[in-house]
Amino acid sequence: MSTTVIILAAGKGTRMRSQLPKVLQPLAGRPLLGHVIQTAKKLHAQNIITIYGHGGELVKQSFAEEHIEWVEQAEQLGTGHAVQMTLPVLPQEGVSLILSGDVPCIHANTLQKLLDTSTQTGIGLVTLTVEDATGYGRIVRQNGKIQAIVEHKDANEAQRQIKEFNTGIYCVSNAKLHEWLPKLSNENAQSEYYLTDIVAMAIADGLEVASVEPDFAFEVEGVNNRLQLAALERQFQQQQAKELMEQGVHLIDPNRFDLRGSLKCGQDVQIDVNVIIEGDCELGDNVQLGAGCILKNTRIAAGTKVQAYSVFENAIVGENTQIGPFARLRPGANLADDVHIGNFVEIKNTHMGQGSKANHFTYLGDADIGANCNIGAGTITCNYDGANKHRTIIEDNVFIGTNNSLVAPIKIGQGATTGAGSTLTRNVAEHSLAVERSKQFEKANYQRPQKLKK
Ligand code: UD1
Ligand code: CA
Repeated sequence: MSTTVIILAAGKGTRMRSQLPKVLQPLAGRPLLGHVIQTAKKLHAQNIITIYGHGGELVKQSFAEEHIEWVEQAEQLGTGHAVQMTLPVLPQEGVSLILSGDVPCIHANTLQKLLDTSTQTGIGLVTLTVEDATGYGRIVRQNGKIQAIVEHKDANEAQRQIKEFNTGIYCVSNAKLHEWLPKLSNENAQSEYYLTDIVAMAIADGLEVASVEPDFAFEVEGVNNRLQLAALERQFQQQQAKELMEQGVHLIDPNRFDLRGSLKCGQDVQIDVNVIIEGDCELGDNVQLGAGCILKNTRIAAGTKVQAYSVFENAIVGENTQIGPFARLRPGANLADDVHIGNFVEIKNTHMGQGSKANHFTYLGDADIGANCNIGAGTITCNYDGANKHRTIIEDNVFIGTNNSLVAPIKIGQGATTGAGSTLTRNVAEHSLAVERSKQFEKANYQRPQKLKK
């Protein structure tokens, strides 16, 4: 049966106190709505219809590359009114999963269970039982069967004692949505068109209302304010950390680990505290990441050890390299195997060949560095002339002395050596020594200036 996913995302999110529409607030580096869309895609939904309202253009722009149908709800007259907006584009056949843009952690497994149980009955919902369901719509059952959902504000004292609540996630036959939604009324405590009223309509039609519970409570938690967002972020992170540890990753402290994207790990990867992984990253066998490292879209091959507080973005690192502490690999940094990069070394758009080293205070930008080179402390590739970038080529087995400025474009031939403190503006031939500095000047018995007496 074909499945449509309808996502409610028109709410204002006033309590976030933010310029950004609520569904664009990030959870684990991805907008709340993005999580819901990603889950919808896992279910191979035939179409995804998102109902937008506040900040509509920005919301649409943020997902311009996704194949999504957008339906506007200009005025927020309730959840039932929101879904009514989809009727002109909603297929007559099949079923719809109705999700909330601000309930980002719902699992595809739970939704699949919901689909499986509701397709026979025509309607089903995800419910959860908790100690205190204050604020939520309560599930009213008779002889175990769902009869209605009563909103907190409309509920009587006895109904408010009910611990099972409506999570706002439904599966309904499209034919029934076409039949029921036009009949909703707003005669209730909030003068809103309640989507929840379709449950009573289903009962009146003699249908049974199916229900499933999620595997984890946090799957159905909504985000209304910053506190809830932060709490959900931690739960989401703990879940990801747990999955990584189950795959064999050694997280020194799963409570101090953040993954904002995807991470593929080999065996016996060790990650120290406060590491942040963003985008798509990959770590080979036995890779170690020291405390406080930040990696974005980076691939590190087996056996490499990264010491504390190193930062990577769009970088590729070979096997058995040593990096950090306090190293920075910027986009286009590409290190071969057995490379050593030490503290306060910045590398951008530069390839470094096997076994080469830059161990202290260095900037290597737009450079091609061969194998087995030693780049002295304080070396700078002067890659920018104020208008254009130029490349520095350092061939194999070169020794660059301490505190060199290599003014690009320049080529240092293989096996060459450069003297400490040189500012090199011309190519250096293979196997030669180049030194560029004034001769040491010395004056015997030199008297320093004296302070003038007033
Ligand atoms: C709704 C349910 C309630 C359930 C709760 C779970 C109704 C009447 N009640 O409560 O039973 O326990 O969710 O969180 O449905 N939205 C729109 N347009 C609107 C109104 C809401 O798009 O006109 C969106 C919101 O942005 C949000 C979702 O619908 O994503 C739920 O709205 P919200 O106001 O949070 O839910 P309640 O009505 O309080
Ligand atoms: Ca409401």
